[in-house]
Amino acid sequence: MYILGLTTLGDSAATLIKDGEMVAAIEEERFSRKKHHSGFPYKAIQYCLDYAGITLKDVAHVGHYWKPWILRHKAMQALKSALISPAMFKARADRGVAQVGESYLGMFKHPQRLREHFGASDFKFHYLEHHQTHAASAFLVSPFDSAAILTWDGTGEDTTTLFCQGKDNKIKVLKRIKLPHSLGQFYSAVTNYIGFDMFTGDEWKVMGLAAYGKPEFYDFFSEKVLIKNGNSGFKFDIKVLDHHLAKHYQFSETIVKEIGPGRKKGEELTEHHWNIACSAQKVVEDTAIHLVKQIKEMTDEENLCMAGGVAFNSVMNGRIFHETPFKNFYVQPAAGDAGCSLGAAYYVWHQILNKPRKYVMNNAYWGPKFTNDECQKALDTAGLEYETLPDEVLLPRLAKMISEGAIIGWFNGRSEWGPRALGARSFLADPRRADMRQVLNDKVKLREWFRPLAPSMLEEYGKEIFGVEHHDPFMITVIQVAEEWKKKIPAVVHVDGSARPQMVNKEVNPRYWNLINEFRKLTGIPLLLNTSFNIQEPIVCTPENAINTFGNANFDALVLENNLVLRK
Ligand SMILES: [Fe+2]
Repeated sequence: MYILGLTTLGDSAATLIKDGEMVAAIEEERFSRKKHHSGFPYKAIQYCLDYAGITLKDVAHVGHYWKPWILRHKAMQALKSALISPAMFKARADRGVAQVGESYLGMFKHPQRLREHFGASDFKFHYLEHHQTHAASAFLVSPFDSAAILTWDGTGEDTTTLFCQGKDNKIKVLKRIKLPHSLGQFYSAVTNYIGFDMFTGDEWKVMGLAAYGKPEFYDFFSEKVLIKNGNSGFKFDIKVLDHHLAKHYQFSETIVKEIGPGRKKGEELTEHHWNIACSAQKVVEDTAIHLVKQIKEMTDEENLCMAGGVAFNSVMNGRIFHETPFKNFYVQPAAGDAGCSLGAAYYVWHQILNKPRKYVMNNAYWGPKFTNDECQKALDTAGLEYETLPDEVLLPRLAKMISEGAIIGWFNGRSEWGPRALGARSFLADPRRADMRQVLNDKVKLREWFRPLAPSMLEEYGKEIFGVEHHDPFMITVIQVAEEWKKKIPAVVHVDGSARPQMVNKEVNPRYWNLINEFRKLTGIPLLLNTSFNIQEPIVCTPENAINTFGNANFDALVLENNLVLRK
């Protein structure tokens, strides 16, 4: 039985499962080439069907990640905010009306849309609650029979934080926190305050910048903005900081008095902003730990699963993993809204159809793959010269080139699910070179100097490099690097001595493991610097995307499966 899961608004995506096993999953942005693509994921669905060699007729159920009839309390919010300020009312009303009109109501047409575009089919369509699909995406493909589940984001229909417990094939909702109390919206508002764009991935920048600052404004944020609130969880005071208004650079008197006016785009980024980022980050971490301790008390589970946009805060995750009483953790690589498509499919299979669990998702490679023939055709069309080499020759040669300073665009197997490059579509470089971060940020990726770069490493060396047992296949936790390793791999150690590793397993991605191992044989260093293969656009998907990027950018070699192109 085939089940299709859909995310259709913001980070649109599709996931296809067959009898409870993953078949394919991908974000629409990888095809449309628009970051965080919002809108019906036609191309992602087509890819999933093609990969399985089926048509929509073969799909028995479709799970959708949102219930459009819960109108997100938009009208209520607008009315409430009218009492606070006319500007807030206008900002909220504009956004609310546009969203409800164009997007949420449009969701009622999805079954019809599917049939019009992909042909007649008698699938059953299920509208599911947003946070419950997040919860399903984390727990139902985890290795645990039983776990506490925390999901947190900007907002779902009206819920922003959901406490659940998973047992076998069922998820039980324990408690919810609703708008306006939202960790994600707090973080987005701070993102805007610092002069970045919320909801477009700029939240990463705040986290990167936080490592440079001091928590000078911690007390202000924790006492007046994001406030721990005993058993209820937390409060977010939107009268002090409202993310809708922050978008228009309108900040409350309290904010301006306590931490000054917001930074506008293009204005200098100073230590003052680092300190704001650091303070906000720390308040989010402490609030999150407060919630994690609560769910531990409520469930007494040993295992914790997390999802929702906030679960991408890898610094927060590192602290949760190492400072709370849970023993084991699972976050699947598309923890944000794209991952709800996966959650929706599994929710239907287990929660609705009551099928037993047997599947564990241990890898992120659910996108398209291309044969050597297909890669060669694309290279021939582009008029590029290349050598085709077997792995025994290619991998040692690449390791040597990297050790001599080359930056490689590496295209290997099925593309990654989720925003992290995990060795399928990655730029690879030498982690020993202190200047490599700057070279990559400035000359290749064309982005801010403070963005950290992360390592992919042989899983076997975790304890040695971090000094503690640490396992993370999906690059979702930040952890301190052991003292003696910091100076050996400066390009992948952040300013605060931390790193965000991907632990590569030999069985899960043998080709990538072998490449890192060749580098280890040559240098004694069992890791490579790995950053996503893209420049100011979604991660490359096809050989053509990779060739385009090679043409527009400044890196030394392109590897499309077994085909090597050197820059002349
Ligand atoms: Fe979400």
